[in-house]
Amino acid sequence: MKKVAVQLRSRSYAIHIGNGIANRVGRIAKDLVPSREVVVVSSKEILRLHGEKVLGSLSRASFKVSTIALPQGERYKSLATLANIYRRFASHRVNRRTTIIAFGGGVIGDIAGFAAASYLRGLPLIQLPTTLLAQIDSSIGGKTGVNLPVGKNLVGAFHQPRCVIVDPLLLASLPVREFRSGIYEALKYGVIKDRSLFMLVDRKHHSLPGKDKRSLEQIISRCAEIKAQIVAADETETGVRMILNYGHTIGHALEAATEYRRLTHGEAIGHGMLMANQLAVELQLLTQAEAELINAAIVRVSALPRLNGLSNAKVFRCMLSDKKFESQRFRFVLPRRIGDVAVVTDIPPSAVAAVIRRYLNA
Ligand SMILES: NC(=O)c1ccc[n+]([C@@H]2O[C@H](COP(=O)([O-])OP(=O)(O)OC[C@H]3O[C@@H](n4cnc5c(N)ncnc54)[C@H](O)[C@@H]3O)[C@@H](O)[C@H]2O)c1
Ligand SMILES: [Zn+2]
Repeated sequence: MKKVAVQLRSRSYAIHIGNGIANRVGRIAKDLVPSREVVVVSSKEILRLHGEKVLGSLSRASFKVSTIALPQGERYKSLATLANIYRRFASHRVNRRTTIIAFGGGVIGDIAGFAAASYLRGLPLIQLPTTLLAQIDSSIGGKTGVNLPVGKNLVGAFHQPRCVIVDPLLLASLPVREFRSGIYEALKYGVIKDRSLFMLVDRKHHSLPGKDKRSLEQIISRCAEIKAQIVAADETETGVRMILNYGHTIGHALEAATEYRRLTHGEAIGHGMLMANQLAVELQLLTQAEAELINAAIVRVSALPRLNGLSNAKVFRCMLSDKKFESQRFRFVLPRRIGDVAVVTDIPPSAVAAVIRRYLNA
């Protein structure tokens, strides 16, 4: 088992990573929480696939366990679902010493996390992520929230968990498209911080998650270390945490422009990284040869869903209405080389529009 520290003074915690540790959740949790009462927030499907390991482990450690099964899917990351969770908390007599365990992908992590952040002004939380994206990204760093009809993640809070428990073996049941989605984010960590991680992900992802359990654990650990380090340096994203948004400026706009239906988040980021690289080459930040190395690795993950029929004007409009777009300036995270990125402001909108237009017409 590996332990990665997220250093945030009084809110510091550990990310426990290890094949099979879902069977040890109870033992890991028991010293970190104020009472033996827990509510596991999950989905029917995840409880059916992996519930026994987790619930069994909690019972063995003498926890009194209630479960709440949420419907799955981004469209349920809503205020209506949140209200439903609060009602269930009330009927389970959740009190300030009850711990919430978010057991699922990023959707469940975000919504259960926000329920824990807000109910009774804050309850202890444990993140137990079950998708690759959630294991390397969304469960770490304390961002929680729900969507509003007008936009994603518009209501939320920072609420750091007591610990994050990552069992890579849970990924064996993940649909391949969801797994690949997480691989794009793993490549992202390589580009922003670690060339050897980038090479490792590129070399190994085709034999994951089934055949090469050690490499998967290694990749997840390294990604978690990078995320932990960045969060520790900038918990609320006023500075360096922005570099996690490489590929996301255009990627988020693609998700919005396709009504969150055609692309998974990771696929949108795959497209977004390809376009960011083109922009970086044009701004002479990145050489063509280095861009081609990154692009080839992205394309090798799988063929990204085509974007035909999507208008560049619509994508551009979505970029302008993004919550992170401030004072009419575009801010992009652009690679200088694999392992090193720059945050570039004041990019002329015409240059961005031209890159999007050419990409969509190619
Ligand atoms: N809080 C953050 O810092 C942060 C960061 C990135 C993304 N996010 C959020 O994360 C969400 C996306 O998360 P996601 O990609 O994990 O999607 P998701 O939670 O929708 O999970 C994808 C699908 O996989 C299923 N699933 C989950 N685990 C499984 C398993 N082990 N076996 C089989 N099926 C399984 C889910 O039921 C779902 O259908 C978005 O809402 C995004 O906004 C948050
Ligand atoms: Zn992302």
